[in-house]
This record gives sequence, C-alpha cells and structure tokens, in this order.
Amino acid sequence: MTRQNGYSILLKAENITKSYGKESVLNGVSLTVYSGTFTAILGPSGSGKSTLLNILSGLTRPASGKVYCGGETVSDYSETRLADWKRSEVGNVFQNYMLLGNLTVKENIKIGIVPGKVPMDFDLLTRILEIEDILDKFPAQLSGGQQQRAAIARAVIKAPRMLFCDEATGALDETNSKKVVELLHVLKSDFGVTVLFVTHNQQIARTADRVLTMKNGLLASDTMNENPISAADMIWG
Ligand SMILES: Nc1ncnc2c1ncn2[C@@H]1O[C@H](COP(=O)(O)OP(=O)(O)OP(=O)(O)O)[C@@H](O)[C@H]1O
Ligand SMILES: [Mg+2]
Repeated sequence: MTRQNGYSILLKAENITKSYGKESVLNGVSLTVYSGTFTAILGPSGSGKSTLLNILSGLTRPASGKVYCGGETVSDYSETRLADWKRSEVGNVFQNYMLLGNLTVKENIKIGIVPGKVPMDFDLLTRILEIEDILDKFPAQLSGGQQQRAAIARAVIKAPRMLFCDEATGALDETNSKKVVELLHVLKSDFGVTVLFVTHNQQIARTADRVLTMKNGLLASDTMNENPISAADMIWG
C-alpha cells in the first residue's frame, strides 16, 4: 500500500468535477484519504460536501476525474463491480438514520451483513454502540441518538474499510452527538475503520485527525490536526 507522511493511502480522488444542469458543483477536487483516520469535512451550505462524499463513496459518478482505492479505479468500475465494492467496503450514515420502520433494530442491523464476508461480532458491536438492550425495539420506539447508533451498527456490521457520515449528528442534541462522535472514534481506533465525517460543527472537527474545508466546489484547506480533542471535551456553543 502506498504511504505518505507515515499514513497508508486508502482512497484517492483526482481532479473530480460534477455539475447539475448548468451549475458546476465540484470544480476539480483532489485529495487522499489515509487509512485508519477520522477526517472532518467542513464548509458552507452548497459548497459541495455531500456531492464529494457521495462521489468518494460510489453513490454518484464524477463528471470527470478519478477515484482510486487499493490500486483500482473505482470511478471506472462497471455498475455491477461498483455495487460489489460499495457493498463490501463502504458504509454510509445519514442525518435521518434511514432505518426500516417495519423491522426491529436487530433486523435492521442484520440487513448490513454481506453474504460471503466475515461480519463484525454482532454482540461486541452492539455492546460498543450501547444498543444491546434495544435490539427488539422498532425505530419509532427509539430516541434519535439510539436510532443513529443502530444505523451506525448496520453500516459497520460488514466491517467496511470506510464509513462515510453526512451530518450524522445533524439531528441530534449535544449529549447524543458527543456519544456518536465518541463511538465513531472507538470504531476507528479498535477496528481501523476510516471515517469521513461531513459536518457544520467546529467542535466535532476538533476531534478529527484531519480537517478539510470546501468552498465553492473546491478544497479550500486541508489541515492535519496535531492535537485533536476527545469527544467528551467538545464544548457546545
Ligand atoms: N441531485 C441534485 N440535483 C441538482 N442539484 C444538486 C443535487 N445535489 C446537489 N445539488 C446542488 O449542488 C450544490 C452542492 O450541494 P451539496 O449537497 O453537495 O452541498 P453541501 O455542501 O453538502 O451543502 P449542505 O451543507 O447544505 O448539506 C448545491 O447548490 C445543490 O443545490
Ligand atoms: Mg450536504
């Protein structure tokens, strides 16, 4: 695996562009994502954060430019190959949880298991995420924080290499946000999951190993955080 600054490169994007109609949303974004790190992506509304995250995670194709992972060009994959790659390597977490309302927490999590791939230990994962006591409940019976932790369990049960979180704490209060951020750091440290976390929250960015800032469809800054704070030490405004 290629190394840079002591980190292994997991994912690489080169000169990514994307437009919707006449609107140019990404104007040539290049970046590397390092294995086993937590990267926060900040930037004003409309700056292209979600579009970039969706392209890196294979949900959207770039108009031009390439996405590489493990020596392969993901952006050139066929639909079938791309679907396989996403299914086994990529986890997604969204602001609105996206749990299936007619299934229990346990059933929702099991949906994330990929046939033929060794899953994470179910009991260990649900214990770490502190949802072991709510496995038989339905999403509507849970708090937002509990639902999001169940959604994270569903996304990581397959042991993906990367977890893409788009404003995953956007609908949560301070206590639940801190808990979710703390647990994502545990998943990174204990299981080597690489986390990309789009947020408007500066405090969450302070817990990250690295902070990217988007502006007008471009990467405006890229900073390694020398002294990240712990999730518990985040100060809400
Ligand atoms: N599917 C789509 N169809 C048309 N326009 C889109 C689509 N997705 C995004 N856009 C436009 O692209 C621009 C960037 O959107 P994007 O969602 O990437 O921004 P963002 O930085 O995530 O913003 P926010 O912080 O509000 O979530 C916006 O102007 C948006 O209207
Ligand atoms: Mg967005």
